[in-house]
Amino acid sequence: MLKRTHTCGDLTARDVDREVVLSGWVHSIRLHGQIIFIDLRDRYGKTQIVFDAESFRGDLNQAKKLSLEDVLTVRGTVRHRGENAVNPQLVTGEIEVHVRDLEILNETDPLPFIITDRQAALEDMRLKYRYLELRTDELQSYLQIRHRAAQITRRYLDTQRFLEIETPVLMKSTPEGARDYLVPSRIHKGKFYALPQSPQTYKQLLMIAGFDRYFQIVKCFRDEDLRADRQPEFTQIDLEMSFVDEKDVQAIAEGLTRELFQQIRGVSLPDPFPILTYEEAMDRYGTDKPDLRYELPLIELKPYTDRSDFNAFRSADCVKGLVWSDGGSYSRKVIDGLTDSVKPYGAKGLAWMKVAGGLLTGGISKFFSPELQQELMSDLALKDGSILFLIGDRRQVAQTAMGALRCEIARRENLTDPDEFQPCWVVDMPMFEWDPEEERYVAVHHPFTSPKEEDLPKMATDPGRVYSRGYDLVLNGYEIAGGSIRINRIEVQEQVFHHLGISEQEAQEKFGFLLEALRYGAPPHGGIAFGFDRLVMLLCGTSNIRDVIAFPKTTSAMSLMDDAPSAVSPEQLAELGITLITK
Ligand code: AMO
Repeated sequence: MLKRTHTCGDLTARDVDREVVLSGWVHSIRLHGQIIFIDLRDRYGKTQIVFDAESFRGDLNQAKKLSLEDVLTVRGTVRHRGENAVNPQLVTGEIEVHVRDLEILNETDPLPFIITDRQAALEDMRLKYRYLELRTDELQSYLQIRHRAAQITRRYLDTQRFLEIETPVLMKSTPEGARDYLVPSRIHKGKFYALPQSPQTYKQLLMIAGFDRYFQIVKCFRDEDLRADRQPEFTQIDLEMSFVDEKDVQAIAEGLTRELFQQIRGVSLPDPFPILTYEEAMDRYGTDKPDLRYELPLIELKPYTDRSDFNAFRSADCVKGLVWSDGGSYSRKVIDGLTDSVKPYGAKGLAWMKVAGGLLTGGISKFFSPELQQELMSDLALKDGSILFLIGDRRQVAQTAMGALRCEIARRENLTDPDEFQPCWVVDMPMFEWDPEEERYVAVHHPFTSPKEEDLPKMATDPGRVYSRGYDLVLNGYEIAGGSIRINRIEVQEQVFHHLGISEQEAQEKFGFLLEALRYGAPPHGGIAFGFDRLVMLLCGTSNIRDVIAFPKTTSAMSLMDDAPSAVSPEQLAELGITLITK
């Protein structure tokens, strides 16, 4: 086999007359009579190679039979391209290689889809032949960005004196709110390891062990409903620090985010990142992960609707409104579509009024007296051509449904600039949330998050009003990181478990090791974990998490390429002491 002397992205006019050997894939083929032009591609670029009777020592018919994606090595001489053939888009655009010798290393079968037209193939087909899809310029560049992001992260955290420490993949289950992936033990039949939902307990133990600053780029596993920004196995940049408060952890997380966006996108993010309280975020944007690239704030309208004759809102806790200045022309059909988009959030409907000729018209406007209409118009500074939407319900439903409408309008109206990045912190979340289905409190963050010191007395009397020392980092509507200052006192940890309905016995069984460790010199500590895939997704400018993972799963948690999950043999099951119940 000839050994390549250069990659397909190396050669320029400086190499003219040089004899070179290139290897790569046939990216495109053009036949011009007895001359064959091929773009040869590898990770580094593309180089035009030319087969003609003058230079080529082999049989031109063999070259004519080459197909897209065949793997070749060629030896030849670098020449200037004809003036008209120069391609300024390519580094190698001024030259071509006139081939003397050809080695065909692998002939390709007919391709299931054309590599240069990725979007034309169904995603299932692309995932089945993922190694082919990964050859596309798009995915090659995304995975290179992912690599760079990982390197920048390591360098940045190393300079901040963080130690990279690996934690087990086979562990005891840690509750992060999702279901665990379980791994049966052969040696201890009937017992199971869990794959980590995150290394939360380990990183806390590393602080108790005195490592002071830990990080890891680590796989996490969660058996939960999947969405465009969720995968069953995903990667975190996980970190933890001792003797710190919220500001210290946030400063490191901001510094890292700023470094990544500066180096990879050339974008300077604000310094410091703005901070919103959870309540402000919910009230103003109807979500705890607001996209701040556009404003479209939610408005409190209950004081107005209570004075109208629109009785449907009378019993509502809260009426949220939103004005879209360009919605006066929305048709019935558009409004029906928007109504459908808020229903999954529990809204029973979507009320509206338009502004035309200085008056409120259509929708529920007839229930508002002329005086009330004028008051609304001037208080909200409503202009002709706008539309006012209203949702009345329980506060949380009105907020989230209106928040969803806010996003939907932004999507419809293209209000976001893909090159703009608006980060913010969301802080002061409630510690507990009442789960009406389970009829108990659940942790808003996770059970190791510390309550605010000043709220400790409320823990016993009014747990619903206790706030936590948690913080989420939000970027363009995605939660890219979440963390908290932890509990480092056993009595507080026990109290939190109690409020979460975890009995003393269960706490001992599940986290006895952590509770015990808190008794042996646990420093105050806190940390954060970035969703690395989400971060890379934003750095790449794509909205599909699968685009930035080499071998992702489908939304039904399958790997179409190797067909996982799959059945296992009866022998394997017997060895694990497992009998399947098939219905
Ligand atoms: P949390 O559960 O908020 O915190 O996770 C941290 C970040 O991980 C990302 N993420 C996901 N990304 C892709 N697919 C998923 N299924 C998925 N689930 C979460 C999000 C999220 O912000 N141990 C704590 C961190 C800490 O307290 O330090 C934890 O895991 O971007």
